[in-house]
Amino acid sequence: MKDNYYITTPIYYVNDVPHIGSAYTTLAVDVIARFMRLCGKDVMFLTGTDEHGQKVEKAAANKNIDPQKFTDELSEHFRNLCEVMNISCDDFIRTTEDRHKQTVEKFWQKLVDSGDIYQGKYSGWYCVRDEAFYDKSELTPEGLAPTGASVEWVEEPSYFFALSKWQDKLLEYYKDNPEFIKPQSRYNEVVSFVKGGLHDLSVSRTSFNWGIKVPGDDKHVIYVWLDALVNYLSALGYPDNDNFKKFWPANAHVVGKDIVRFHAVYWPAFLMAADLPLPKCIVAHGWWTNEGEKISKSLGNVINPVELVEEFGLDSVRYFLMKEITFGSDGNFSRSSLINRINSELSNKIGNLVQRTLSFVFKQCDARVPEVEQNFASLAYKSTLLQYAVNAAQTNIKLMENFEINAVLDNILNIAEQANIYIDNQAPWQLKKTDIIKMNEVLYTLLETIRFIGLMLQPFMPDAACKILDQLGVDTRARDFAHLNENFALQSGSVILEPTPIFPRFENAS
Ligand code: MSP
Repeated sequence: MKDNYYITTPIYYVNDVPHIGSAYTTLAVDVIARFMRLCGKDVMFLTGTDEHGQKVEKAAANKNIDPQKFTDELSEHFRNLCEVMNISCDDFIRTTEDRHKQTVEKFWQKLVDSGDIYQGKYSGWYCVRDEAFYDKSELTPEGLAPTGASVEWVEEPSYFFALSKWQDKLLEYYKDNPEFIKPQSRYNEVVSFVKGGLHDLSVSRTSFNWGIKVPGDDKHVIYVWLDALVNYLSALGYPDNDNFKKFWPANAHVVGKDIVRFHAVYWPAFLMAADLPLPKCIVAHGWWTNEGEKISKSLGNVINPVELVEEFGLDSVRYFLMKEITFGSDGNFSRSSLINRINSELSNKIGNLVQRTLSFVFKQCDARVPEVEQNFASLAYKSTLLQYAVNAAQTNIKLMENFEINAVLDNILNIAEQANIYIDNQAPWQLKKTDIIKMNEVLYTLLETIRFIGLMLQPFMPDAACKILDQLGVDTRARDFAHLNENFALQSGSVILEPTPIFPRFENAS
């Protein structure tokens, strides 16, 4: 039986169109999901939109549009981004859907039944941009939220979740599960935040309307974060659907560093209260800046991922976003770095290797995988080059299980570098004049290495990888990671296609 693997993105606020930040999280999850499918897992990949709350209500009011109509339009942009970026999600959830509303109501009732929700009055600071309550001690000297957004004083009747009650249980859980929050720096932050003491959390608001009503008390709207986090259950049809039984607990919730507290403190406390198992891992990634500056609407430097794809092509954008940042750390977007990576890595290293090997084979070997001795494949696998590729493939599985996405790409690129050195050293164009048998062996070893590269590139650049494998003549049914070994080595005499450049250089740098 296949292993199940459930992975999610955060659901995106629909107060604005998608930007590079949302594209980045979704893409990272897409790469992980595709990788796990290729490892043979039964994957459920969920993304969607977070459509309730004061922030969205305000954005709709500013445009003078009914919030439902507004969210219908905006949510479509996020769905469209999935198309544009070739995102392989299995479901797209909207928090305004009925299936979600029903699950939130059931989940709320669970918390009421367990005695974790009580009625009171909230007075304190609220930040609409972050949809978060802040303690006075967390505000900056200028009286802003720690994120720099403005806060307002709120006094209203409210339901509370007894978060403080869960403090020790949470700390115990972190201690017993050191892999629960990645990377380690975020784990440490969460532990020290919880050790600092947890206050009960206000989980309903009365000062606006746009949300799911508290069951039995429709003056109250359920706090948008409680509503939003439950999406991870609604998409599985919690509590009765088979998918819930099959996929819960999630293997990973991938989130940006700004929303770790909600996922690694509030969410596990809600789940413990509801007596449900906790997700296996909260994976936090860093933030992008643009040419060294914080990305913000007011600075006018928001990067539109759709325009980026139109200008540079999807494969290049996917590659760049995954390669530029050490997953978990912050990183900077710059046009020059993007163009440089297209030219010096994709085009010069991988593209060049594929193009020169395949066009040589196409012309000199009658467009067929060269003839070699029958047992040559196993000899080839003893070569330094293929040993290197096999080791990289094995390491990559461990790296991806640990969410070290960019390190996987580094490894693939290193294989291409080794293969380029090999082709230069072996010089098949010279061997053609002196030793045809050796020339064929060299070419065979190179083609087999390219097969590895093509297979491993699939999660990152599905289109380009597909072209490489098509050109090599690899059967579409022989493309998962179970084929990364000599048992599935290319057959002498099988046909290759006339190669066309896969990663052209980006010339008109502006
Ligand atoms: N709606 C909540 C999430 C609820 S999940 C139950 C939310 N939405 S968001 O649209 O504001 O942010 C979604 C994701 O985009 C977050 O993971 C956030 O970190 C990410 N990014 C927003 N700007 C970003 C960058 N500049 N760089 C990288 N990611 C950033 O929070």
